[in-house]
Formats: sequence, C-alpha cells, structure tokens
Amino acid sequence: MSAVPGSAPEPSQPACAEFKDAFPAHIAIIMDGNGRWAKARGRKRIFGHREGIASVREITTECARLGVQSLTLYAFSAENWKRPPLEVRYLMQLLRLFLVQERRTLMDNRVRLSAIGRLERLPKAAREELERTIAMTASNTGMTLRLALSYGSRSEIADGLRRIVADARSGALEERAIDEETLRRYLYDPLTPDPDLIIRTAGELRLSNFLLWQASYSELYVTECCWPEFRAAQLHEALRAYSARTRKFGGLAPGEKTSTGSSR
Ligand code: FPP
Repeated sequence: MSAVPGSAPEPSQPACAEFKDAFPAHIAIIMDGNGRWAKARGRKRIFGHREGIASVREITTECARLGVQSLTLYAFSAENWKRPPLEVRYLMQLLRLFLVQERRTLMDNRVRLSAIGRLERLPKAAREELERTIAMTASNTGMTLRLALSYGSRSEIADGLRRIVADARSGALEERAIDEETLRRYLYDPLTPDPDLIIRTAGELRLSNFLLWQASYSELYVTECCWPEFRAAQLHEALRAYSARTRKFGGLAPGEKTSTGSSR
C-alpha cells in the first residue's frame, strides 16, 4: 500500500460517489482463507498470513480514503488459540510487526487504532506494541480501525453479563431497567455502532463467533476470494452489492405500503 498523506476525507463524506446512496459507516471483515491461498501455491500457511498483511494495509487505506467510519477486522479469534503453537506464535509475531511497521501509514491516513477481545491473553510484547499504537493514534480524527484480537462474541456477552449481574447486586444497576441498550453498554465497545456490512472472504457461510449481538441487522457479503487476494477492487464489489440492498430492520422499505413477503 502506498501511504496517502492527508488524503483521507472527513468520515461523513464518502470519497466515491458511486456508493453515496447507501454507504456503510461500519464495515467488519472475517478475514479467512490465508491457509488455503498459501496451500494452493504449494506454500506453508504462514506465507498466507504474511500476504494477508498486505490486504489489511490496502483495505484499511481504501476504507479510510472512501470515508468509512469504522473498520473491524477479525484478526485472531478466541478459538484460534487452539491452532498449532508454531502458527499461533507466528501470528502473534506478525501482529507485533504489523503494529510497529504500519504506524506511519495509520498516522498518514488519520486512522485511529482500537482493539476488542480478551487482550490480556496476548503475549506481552504484542500487547505493549498494541497499547503504544493505540496511544499514538488516539487523537487521529479519521477512520477507526478496530482489531478483534483473542475475540469471541460468546465470551464478550458472558463478560458483559457478569458485570451486569455484579452491578445489579451492588445496586449500581436497577434490574427492572435492564434492556437491550443496557447489554450494549456492557459489551466491549459500546460506542461503536453495529456493523452495517459484514464481509467474509473464502466462501464459508457462517459468523464464527464474530459480533453475534451486533450483527443482528448487518448485511452479509460472502466472497470466494481468499483474504490475501481481497484488495480495493474486491472491496468495491462488496460496496456495490451493499448499495443494491434494501435495509428494512424488520419494518417496511420506504414507500412500501403493504408487504406480502418477509420483512425480516
Ligand atoms: C484465517 O485464515 C485468518 C486468520 C486466522 C488470521 C488473520 C490474520 C491475518 C490476515 C494476518 C494478521 C493480521 C493482522 C491485523 C496482524 P485461515 O488460516 O483460517 O485460512 P484457511 O481457512 O484457508 O485455513
């Protein structure tokens, strides 16, 4: 990716007129297929992860340029700890390297970094670089890049529930007042709006424990393309598909008086 100093637009003004009518403020991506991509080329899985970094760069820069407000990348799931120790170690090294090497690009594109997940499980070196990059980019006013690391949606909900129960017991929270918005406040990052668009690469049709609560009304887009090949052109394709959707949130489409079809 080439850094584009100062070229990221204000988040509310999508740079690309083609997507203007229906443009996602928040895109979340399940980056899948690194291993398959590498295997198809007779290489080791870690080669795919390394190439995946180039896609992370390009997609981050392109989203910032287009005026996306938040981009959440599923970089390491709670379940990924079950992978062979060598692969886990490599992914953690890659994360650390990414956090150091990409600082300039994040700054040049006014991207603010944040993270969700059980971050305390990350190796100290990776955690320290994460904290450093988050602090360094904290006052950037462009897009937020949110890395989901050691992240699992079920643990996020369980962690939130545990804190709700503790607060209800201590009297800080009134039990009768608990509603959907209460639960949102107790999730990892209550201020980031739900994803409008969730993209999954490499063709699997599942959410894999990613943002289960927040995905209730997200538009899903699955492509056969493996993550190392998912670049700006493929992102544009996803955005075009998104702009052709009608989002009803369980209601009716604007101008639709009666409906015989499902409004879910
Ligand atoms: C899935 O591919 C991808 C991952 C488990 C990790 C994603 C990581 C990267 C893109 C690189 C690191 C990213 C950052 C932000 C530092 P897979 O290995 O499950 O592929 P497969 O399903 O084909 O085996």
